[in-house]
Amino acid sequence: MPERNFEGFAGISIAADAYGQEEDPCVLLIPSAGQSRRTWHEAAEALAAAGRYVVSIDLRGHGDSERPADGRYDLDAYVGDLCSILAKLSSRPVIVGASLGGWIATAALGEGGPDIASGLVLVDSPPRIDPDKAREVGQMLRSYAERRGDSIDFDPHTFEGMDLEDIEERLAKAASALKLPTLIVRGAQSELSSLESIKELTVAIADAEAVEIEGAGHLVATEQAEAFNAVLLEFLERRIPREPPEYQAGSDSRTLRDALGCFATGVTVVTTAAPDGTPVGLTANSFTSVSLEPEILLVCLAKTASCLSAFDAAEHFAVNVLHIGQQPLSNRFAMKGEDRFAETDWESWSTGAPIIKGTLASFECEKYQMQDVGDHVILLGKVSRVRFEPRRDPLLYFRGKYRRLHFA
Ligand SMILES: Cc1cc2nc3c(=O)[nH]c(=O)nc-3n(C[C@H](O)[C@H](O)[C@H](O)COP(=O)(O)O)c2cc1C
Repeated sequence: MPERNFEGFAGISIAADAYGQEEDPCVLLIPSAGQSRRTWHEAAEALAAAGRYVVSIDLRGHGDSERPADGRYDLDAYVGDLCSILAKLSSRPVIVGASLGGWIATAALGEGGPDIASGLVLVDSPPRIDPDKAREVGQMLRSYAERRGDSIDFDPHTFEGMDLEDIEERLAKAASALKLPTLIVRGAQSELSSLESIKELTVAIADAEAVEIEGAGHLVATEQAEAFNAVLLEFLERRIPREPPEYQAGSDSRTLRDALGCFATGVTVVTTAAPDGTPVGLTANSFTSVSLEPEILLVCLAKTASCLSAFDAAEHFAVNVLHIGQQPLSNRFAMKGEDRFAETDWESWSTGAPIIKGTLASFECEKYQMQDVGDHVILLGKVSRVRFEPRRDPLLYFRGKYRRLHFA
């Protein structure tokens, strides 16, 4: 079982197990406070056998995930962790969250927009809970884990960052913003949730259905693992089936991006000199050759790019095509807060546009045209000079990941 590590909120390390094939539709499993990712082991295996790619995480401060030095265990920090993980997954997952895990998912999806997940399963996780019961359940989780022998290390401070009243209000609001297919599961003998709180939640979420599982309490996913797995699989097959994803005009932009990501590209760094001579640049894979006579190429730049004004003002720019060893360079020019040129070996030729040394190819261009299209501008250049390296392999980009050439 391969282990994955994610960078969470403020850079803390989040441990995860992965099951199944990464190309398959993803299910992300989030345990409750006081539990470990191993809680989900049986569910994860059942899901992988049914053709899902499963990522099962430890919450911050739990198991193999890092204990944050700043002691942050508030809902915002947990939500920040989840959003960082979602950004790294190759497809929009169905999120299954138990108890606190469900709260985190509700807040992230209700407040962050519908595009970041394809479905939601909330396991005994209503916004409204009785604070006294919550304390009891905290104790219970701990002794349950100890009894099962999969007791995990967790930071005892994890329960300190939550103001339950604030959370109830926040989660109720987030739940009413949810539009994605949602399954609400309750252990019929739950120590924490009431039937009324589950009914309220089912009414609040536009596309929700609820199921009660007999013979189980708050820890329904482990206490009645087989019944829980059956309910989960049935819901997934019916509501989020394993079909090739489809995009239709006007639906979510993440699916469109995933579709566009099926087109494999190389990776370039596009550079220019700002009016005061400072070199600027960004990573771009939207590079295309346009015409040989005259010799024209293009790149598309997001209007949000901080260096757009420099390209707007410049008369020249360069497109530097990266080789397989230049992934760190690509990252540097795609990340905020990096001094991009300080650690980059570069020179300029006749136009002053920064040319990165040691690339696969560098195209020096005179600006030909700049065309405003939607949320991007198309920057067209007339090539004045090119240097290229015929022997190295390119750095490739496909389905949101760097790749290398391989010939069978
Ligand atoms: C592989 C890859 C390809 C990218 N392609 C483009 C692109 O074609 N156009 C673009 O505007 N941003 C693209 N980006 C994103 C920018 O590099 C990134 O947003 C960068 O931080 C923008 O520069 P800024 O921080 O100065 O705003 C790409 C990022 C990566 C990792």
